[in-house]
Amino acid sequence: MNKVGVVGCGLMGSGIAQVCAEAGHPVVVREVSDDLLRKGLGRIESFLGKGVERGKVTPERMREVMGRIEGTTALEAFAGCDIVVEAVVETLEAKRQVYQALDRICGPGTIFASNTSSLSITEMAAVTKRADRFVGLHFFNPVPLMKLVEVVRTPLTSAAAFEEAFEFAKSLGKTAIRATDKTGFIVNRLLVPYLLDAVRALEEGVGSVADIDEGMRLGCGYPMGPFTLLDFVGLDTTCYIANIMFDEFREKRFAPPPLLKRMVQAGMHGRKSGRGFYDYSKEPPVATAGLVQA
Ligand SMILES: NC(=O)c1ccc[n+]([C@@H]2O[C@H](COP(=O)([O-])OP(=O)(O)OC[C@H]3O[C@@H](n4cnc5c(N)ncnc54)[C@H](O)[C@@H]3O)[C@@H](O)[C@H]2O)c1
Repeated sequence: MNKVGVVGCGLMGSGIAQVCAEAGHPVVVREVSDDLLRKGLGRIESFLGKGVERGKVTPERMREVMGRIEGTTALEAFAGCDIVVEAVVETLEAKRQVYQALDRICGPGTIFASNTSSLSITEMAAVTKRADRFVGLHFFNPVPLMKLVEVVRTPLTSAAAFEEAFEFAKSLGKTAIRATDKTGFIVNRLLVPYLLDAVRALEEGVGSVADIDEGMRLGCGYPMGPFTLLDFVGLDTTCYIANIMFDEFREKRFAPPPLLKRMVQAGMHGRKSGRGFYDYSKEPPVATAGLVQA
């Protein structure tokens, strides 16, 4: 695996481009406009720049890594890539359009890898003529810091392509785990019902936001409680993923509870909107009052 293509230079795409370049790969990364491309490349520069300020990255190393990344707005630039990792917006239609175009541009050996969190990889692979060389590579946010990558196979992925993708993920300095194409893969399959259950426990009056968080932090050794994590991930994002998982499995444990839905409708999306289970206008943040009282 040498040249890497990354489609999308948002939150995840910029991180993926960065770790690939850090591992020594020439990288071409595509955005839909020059403005978004500048913004995405700026995110990588700023991440590495902070490393330089803290003395963790040398200025030469930063130049070397940035020098391996070529930004583009043209999909044709992916022609010589050995693997293309797609990290565009989370809609099947947008992803299908990208894959149909890439299928014409890339050689038959190129592996396609989607970073989707919740959509069916099989459904994306089916619009290409290379379903046997199509996998999921599910990175975690922030990509340069999170060690895990879930490598996902569909019923059509060949054993050879899967192993190539698995080795590629490891070559980025990540720990790779194997999963099959069921919505949520391994991590979200277990994490999402746990987060939703914390909301149900709050609805049922088992404990307060702060006490449930402290309980799971100190009682289970989790780095943060479920409500702090929900506010980080975004209540809207969690609700969106939960709905897709409910659709896939038709099990109550994946259904977003009413309180979560109401909070999303109210614009309480967590940290990014300033208020979720905690109110971030206060320092330190305090649990939002009146979430469950009649
Ligand atoms: N944010 C997370 O924590 C997280 C974690 C794991 C996986 N993911 C997945 O990663 C993918 C990207 O998520 P994100 O959080 O980076 O979103 P984002 O909105 O930050 O970035 C998506 C980018 O894709 C660009 N884009 C859209 N269509 C494009 C196209 N045709 N070609 C090139 N670029 C295009 C958009 O302009 C945008 O900048 C999604 O599939 C998401 O489910 C997200």
